[in-house]
Amino acid sequence: MKPLRTIILAAGKGTRFKSETPKVLHHLAGKPVLQYVLDVAEAVGSLRTYVVVGHKADMLKQAVTGRADVVLQQQQLGTAHAVRSCAGHFKGVKGDVLVMCGDTPLLDKQVIRKLLVRHRKSGNVCTVLTALLQDPSGYGRIIRDAKGSFMAIREHKDCSSEEAKVCEINTGVYCFDAVALFGSIHAVKCNAKKKEFYLTDVIELFRTRGVKVDAFVTNDGTANLGLNTRAELALAEKIKRDRVLKALMDSGVTIVDPGTTYIEDDVSIGQDTIIHPCTYIHAGVRIGRDCSIGPFARLRPGTKLGRGVTIGNFTELSRSVLADGVTMKHFSFLGDARVGAGANIGAGAVTANYDGKNKNITKIGRKAFIGCDTVLVAPVEVGDGAVAGAGSVVTPGRSIPAGMVGVGIPARVIKKARRHE
Ligand code: UD1
Ligand code: MG
Repeated sequence: MKPLRTIILAAGKGTRFKSETPKVLHHLAGKPVLQYVLDVAEAVGSLRTYVVVGHKADMLKQAVTGRADVVLQQQQLGTAHAVRSCAGHFKGVKGDVLVMCGDTPLLDKQVIRKLLVRHRKSGNVCTVLTALLQDPSGYGRIIRDAKGSFMAIREHKDCSSEEAKVCEINTGVYCFDAVALFGSIHAVKCNAKKKEFYLTDVIELFRTRGVKVDAFVTNDGTANLGLNTRAELALAEKIKRDRVLKALMDSGVTIVDPGTTYIEDDVSIGQDTIIHPCTYIHAGVRIGRDCSIGPFARLRPGTKLGRGVTIGNFTELSRSVLADGVTMKHFSFLGDARVGAGANIGAGAVTANYDGKNKNITKIGRKAFIGCDTVLVAPVEVGDGAVAGAGSVVTPGRSIPAGMVGVGIPARVIKKARRHE
């Protein structure tokens, strides 16, 4: 198999987003849009990935560090010009080059795998991923001859009225032979109307040189969804969320109301866990089997729940780790907490985990009982089987030892706890 490298085009301004943040760094289901495209490149075996940046280059550089090389395109003179700016990295390089746009987060790795297989089997110098759309406006059209052979890509603005009727469009994803691509890209001429160098014009160049090009049609109607506006970002978010929920339900998780449940990418939830309505679970959260979450719960990044945990209404967890069987049924917040198995967090109990400078840890032991309206001022510990009385304020340095009851403001340790085994 030929080695694969990837070029991701992300230098464009994203004018219609009207944002100080590059559009590919806006978040979709908890992750920057560009990250999804990088994930696809990685998943299909790209040995090296280059992200072409221009507008707000520094922010993008920071975002891709460690995952891809950054190539600066000084002026945004079009997609062919963007690819050309990578030429220095492809001197003497043989193999395949996958070209994608940075703003297409819904691209499916399976579709790209199929594109690569097709490309490698065919001996094409270029295979373009195309899609059939009911409304193709705005996209480059796939022009075929009477026999159906792929001849050219015509940009919307340059289409004749006949060509404009074509519903097969260019998704903006291509697989090229590296030598052929960089042997031809310099010959692409500037488009007279838009004063840009079009990558799509390389197809006609290949045809005139008599080398094989082909189009691979995908029936994934979202492959082409490049995000140009915030409305499209919201649409992509909805599609992505539906995919996440469907995958979770297929794996044995009950989602009572998918319409009001927001689960970001990269969340794992164990079998037979029930997620009640109006719940928001952020990227990276881990939830065990047989748990009950919500309604109206928010689980923020860094949260891990064991098996059989109950998180009820109007609750928030952030960077907190809860062992098996913990119950936290109403109106509570735990931040930076480590909670032992079987502990009970009463209504309205909160951790004061932020002292204005640092986030501090709260340790709650196995089978500990945190009374209603308790404030745990971190760093602090409530030991195994210990009880923090209702309304108590447990302050740093005045932890409640294992098996003891603490009450008051600040909590005073008064006697042995019955709860202790
Ligand atoms: C492009 C294709 C079109 C296709 C569509 C799919 C061309 C000429 N046209 O059109 O056939 O249907 O994508 O969405 O390629 N970029 C740079 N540097 C530049 C210009 C653009 O990096 O100088 C990047 C943009 O950030 C973007 C991508 O290239 O990620 C595509 O550019 P865009 O202007 O969106 O092209 P389209 O007009 O959508
Ligand atoms: Mg576009």
